[in-house]
Amino acid sequence: MKVLVIGSTGKTGHELCMLLKEKNIPYDAPGRKELDLAYPEQIQSCLKHYKPDIVVNAASYNNPGQAEIEPAYCFRINKDAVAEIADYCNRQGCILIQVSTYRIFDGIQSEPYSEQDTPNPSNVQAISRWQAEQEIHKRCARHIILRLSWVISERRNNMLAKLLDQLSCHQEVTVTSDQLGCPTPAEDAARVIIAIIQQLDCGADVWGTYHYASTEAVSENSFAEIVTLEASHYHHLKVKKLKMNKMDNRKGVLPPANANLDCSLILNTFGIHRRPWRTALSKIIYSYFQNTPFS
Ligand SMILES: NC(=O)c1ccc[n+]([C@@H]2O[C@H](COP(=O)([O-])OP(=O)(O)OC[C@H]3O[C@@H](n4cnc5c(N)ncnc54)[C@H](OP(=O)(O)O)[C@@H]3O)[C@@H](O)[C@H]2O)c1
Repeated sequence: MKVLVIGSTGKTGHELCMLLKEKNIPYDAPGRKELDLAYPEQIQSCLKHYKPDIVVNAASYNNPGQAEIEPAYCFRINKDAVAEIADYCNRQGCILIQVSTYRIFDGIQSEPYSEQDTPNPSNVQAISRWQAEQEIHKRCARHIILRLSWVISERRNNMLAKLLDQLSCHQEVTVTSDQLGCPTPAEDAARVIIAIIQQLDCGADVWGTYHYASTEAVSENSFAEIVTLEASHYHHLKVKKLKMNKMDNRKGVLPPANANLDCSLILNTFGIHRRPWRTALSKIIYSYFQNTPFS
């Protein structure tokens, strides 16, 4: 099976390419210069050129605040491009694995969200992601939609990297006590995609939507406390105090308060077990400080 990875420079896409290479699974990973999802003609020519058996789309427009300012552009990347890819996959009989997000839920319920729960996105970015999922359902039978909880990595912008930046540079860091999620290392998300690819390669007929998140949901403030302790082993932190806040006091587009996902379906269908994020945290923090220059 030949895999085409879209979004290979992102956190999840990068880790996926590393694992594909390690496992000797043939793949192509065009960068944005070659494949910009804003241009439908590039999508068509790229897919025709590489002729993949499986397309993994780990690219997305991921800036909720900016999406409110440029909704048309956000929809082009997150919805229209995905519809285009889904059409191609359906025509050519190839498989589409679309990485999606907990942000399609409103975050109001206290239980973890399962695949049966109805999405209720409340901002442009989240609506574009939910509409993309619906386009895939309509257009491409052989698809897997994989929704993830908080993705953490030493690379690019994410909640862990942002937190480490703040802990290193500020004496007081504000965190919320009423925001819950499962920090999921990008490497773990990539491992899950590989496991899915391997089973699809064996002919498993398991199309549909699945949730994955590392074990142990945690509030943002408890996560920050654990990160502070761990990071202090590797770097002199400036932070003296973690200041508690409530989500309602935050400005801008708020993420869903509950990003906890029920992962029983992916376990029962693919046998994919959840890994704990705590075991990966130290390694990610270490790499972050190795690669981030602080004055
Ligand atoms: N981050 C999270 O906390 C989180 C949580 C749940 C789900 N997810 C989902 O997981 C998936 C991967 O997220 P991530 O955080 O790993 O990604 P990321 O680090 O934010 O990277 C985004 C990727 O999308 C690419 N991209 C953006 N606009 C593009 C365009 N117009 N054309 C082509 N490529 C474009 C970027 O390419 P450039 O390098 O060229 O910018 C980059 O490779 C996404 O679907 C995301 O919604 C993420």
